[in-house]
Amino acid sequence: MSEQVIIFDTTLRDGEQSPGISLDQGEKLEIAEQLARLGVDYIEAGFPIASQGDFEGVRAIAESVGRSTPARTAPVICGLSRTALKDIDRCWEAIEAAESRRIHTFIATSPTHMEHKLRMTPEQVKAEAASAVTHARAYTDDVEFSPEDASRSDFDFMCEVLQIAIDAGAGTLNIPDTVGYATPVEWGERIRAIRERVTGDYVISSHCHNDLGLAVANSLAAVQAGARQVECTINGIGERAGNAAMEEIVMAIRTRPDIYLDMEVGIQTEELAKSSRLVSRLTGYPVQYNKAVVGRNAFAHEAGIHQHGVLRERTTYEIMDPSAVGAGESQIVLGKHSGRAAFKDTLQKMGIDIHGDALQSAFERFKELADRKVQLTDADLEALVVEEMGGSVDHAFELVSLATAGGSVGTGNTPQADVVLLVEGEKHEAHAEGDGMVDASCQAIRQATGIEGRLTDYTVMSVTGGVDALADVALSFETTDGLKVSGRGLSSDVVEASARAFVAALNKVVRVRASGEDPNAVVRPGSLDFKL
Ligand code: KIV
Ligand code: ZN
Repeated sequence: MSEQVIIFDTTLRDGEQSPGISLDQGEKLEIAEQLARLGVDYIEAGFPIASQGDFEGVRAIAESVGRSTPARTAPVICGLSRTALKDIDRCWEAIEAAESRRIHTFIATSPTHMEHKLRMTPEQVKAEAASAVTHARAYTDDVEFSPEDASRSDFDFMCEVLQIAIDAGAGTLNIPDTVGYATPVEWGERIRAIRERVTGDYVISSHCHNDLGLAVANSLAAVQAGARQVECTINGIGERAGNAAMEEIVMAIRTRPDIYLDMEVGIQTEELAKSSRLVSRLTGYPVQYNKAVVGRNAFAHEAGIHQHGVLRERTTYEIMDPSAVGAGESQIVLGKHSGRAAFKDTLQKMGIDIHGDALQSAFERFKELADRKVQLTDADLEALVVEEMGGSVDHAFELVSLATAGGSVGTGNTPQADVVLLVEGEKHEAHAEGDGMVDASCQAIRQATGIEGRLTDYTVMSVTGGVDALADVALSFETTDGLKVSGRGLSSDVVEASARAFVAALNKVVRVRASGEDPNAVVRPGSLDFKL
């Protein structure tokens, strides 16, 4: 028989308290509706006494999301309230319209909060806890009590207050690590010790902040120690360094049933990625790339060994199925660490079937480009393969190196180029000047190959946008005896792309002269079978 771990979402209350976040009513409703689709058990919709906007937001959520529809069961709608009786009245007014509602009342129990913030004696704090819970119970059976700053509270005193709350009728004791001070073993022990000390029929809950980056670890330690409710937010948003991230807690419990024995969470995990995107978009808080479960790199593999493994069997490097959290498929990201298997697989998914020497030379060019560019897009790859397919048919000439100089604006210097070409396997060097770097490079290449003629057309395109885009140069060349050929070149540098395009065109001259084939055939992925 499995035990339920209640997911208490506080994205719209503690999450909304993050600096710079201010959601309007429509946005709160959109998030609340998505939380209901996600299947959270409780939505803490706000702090109604805090402002008119907060009050109206909570009431709107109670009236709509707090009611079941044929498609989903309504979550319980909760409002936060201090122990002042007027706070509790206002809270009730805001949540009353919901099908099921909870009042969450809190008061600090740590010495520093009692002395400096509340300016109350411990006796006054005990009295406040008793009257608040009693008052809230007059409205609803579902009352939660929190001793704020529990991790820095005197254990005996805090347990006294908790016992008072239970005796007054609270059904849930939420233990907050308000300032993110606790560590996992300590937090687990504190939760266990409270359960041993405080008597009665209640659910114990954990509410962790992330100041030391331990909010999720502490929440999970609490679950192992008997907590059956965790308070958390989507993407871990919240005061300062945030709250415990719901997606991480849920997926830890789901992924490790051997640790969280017979525990269940009622979350539709396929809605996690969507919920994360929605919260990020509406709050303006970006999700870090490497964020667990919902970060854009959470299921992306770049290292060659990892890519090879994942392509053979996903579980070699993935402990969760990306589709289980609504993140689609594992992603193979092509970059400088990628291997041939991933390169080939990506091309195949793009409909380009390439084998043998063509695959090898395209892969070598890819590695060379990837070293200069952070990540290659599909468009970059397609352009690269087109270039290689054109070039791999005949390689009379191969560009070994190109160095250009001069031509800076306003210097009056003449642009110059030095090239080294392999001509039928032998190194040829040439130096030339020109009207610009591209012209100088083409003159030098012409000298090294000994093929005379003129450029009849020259186009440069950027394969993708951005300053690091690849330049794709297409040019036409006509030899002095009237043979017309074209060539294409690709590089992160436009002069190099031009030189490559020119070499490709001259290779075609050699090939056409040898075979008499049509010089103007352009090979494109999808238009021809690439199998060589
Ligand atoms: O962090 C905290 O102590 C809180 C309480 C109101 C539960 O958010
Ligand atoms: Zn909090």
